[in-house]
Amino acid sequence: MPNAQIVGAGHYVPETVYSNEKMSTYMDTTDEWITERTGIKERRFAKKHEETTTTLAAHATREACKDAGISVEEIDFIIFATLSPDYYFPGCGVLLQRELGITKTEIGALDIRNQCSGFVYGLSVADQFIKSGMYKTILLVGAEMHSMGMDFSTRGRGVSVIFGDGAGAVIVKATEEENSGILTTKLHSDGTHAEHLAMINPGSHGGYHLGKEHFGYEEKDTPGDVFVTQKMFDDGLYPNMTGQLVFKNAVVKFPQVIQEALKAVALSTEDIDLLIPHQANLRISQFVQKVLQLPDNKVFNNIQKYGNTTAASIPIAISEAKKAGKLIKGSLLCLAAFGSGFTWGSALVRM
Ligand code: UT7
Repeated sequence: MPNAQIVGAGHYVPETVYSNEKMSTYMDTTDEWITERTGIKERRFAKKHEETTTTLAAHATREACKDAGISVEEIDFIIFATLSPDYYFPGCGVLLQRELGITKTEIGALDIRNQCSGFVYGLSVADQFIKSGMYKTILLVGAEMHSMGMDFSTRGRGVSVIFGDGAGAVIVKATEEENSGILTTKLHSDGTHAEHLAMINPGSHGGYHLGKEHFGYEEKDTPGDVFVTQKMFDDGLYPNMTGQLVFKNAVVKFPQVIQEALKAVALSTEDIDLLIPHQANLRISQFVQKVLQLPDNKVFNNIQKYGNTTAASIPIAISEAKKAGKLIKGSLLCLAAFGSGFTWGSALVRM
């Protein structure tokens, strides 16, 4: 059975930097509040009407292909993780295929909707496809363009100061090398708190969970008019987050799912060469580091520069860590993520 190895990584972040001070010109917030609660100092936002989630992903992909020493034509399956797609449908996988100029149709494209844990879920899917022999060269990309769908007024400050735009990509390839590549992945979900980190509009729910009056629907005899209503537009089509609930769950699940993966392959925290946690909040990463008793040089954080880029945060960090020489052959890389759903997961990769 072949193993699945990460053979190349790339990333792209938009040029324009938005500091915390700049954010405070749009809403009632301060550099002090954002730094203290999240560790974030700045983030990047894409160019309106010029860039899309897919174009960010295309830059990251080209860099990942170059790093892997392959041409885009060699990719035989695309996995695209995002919560901020170009369109409601079709997903970004096929749009990326087109953007990259891949004209062959002997290729599959799959979109993953697992938000912050989308990359870890995607890595697990890539691993299974490669181990089963179905595909040999998989592009896994995580990309987000949050800036197009956030509330930049004071009403939305609890969400909009945290998230940033960017894309990261890895090439996962079959290898016959033993004890190499993805050693294990662990995935979890619990839908109990689904609406506590969510963007529920537009959608088919029609008030199913929250009560029709919440949406102010006018009852009609004809079907339709539920997906997007005038009231939704009036309220604003924005994500919402119960920050403290997410935080409390994250700091428990991150260490749990890391230990679970280590146990599955009979390794321990001392064996980890580099932990890349999903960049949700620097305070969460620091908490996880403390619980696992890892030294600073074994935990990679870049949220200070980019904010939380959701599905893109782990592959951006892999790309940066690789460039910085932190992921050399034989290193044990540990990935972990937690977020909306809730969904969470981990992966151990022998580079
Ligand atoms: O990757 C996806 C997963 N997401 C996460 O992991 C996020 C997890 N949660 C968090 O990171 C934190 O909960 C936040 C950073 C989102 C919020 O920090 P917090 O310490 O939990 O703050 P809070 O939501 O309890 O709000 C505290 C106060 C409130 O004011 P009052 O009610 O105490 O007067 C908020 O209105 O801070 C206020 N506030 C702000 N003030 C200035 C909320 N956002 C801001 C802001 N600037 N941007």
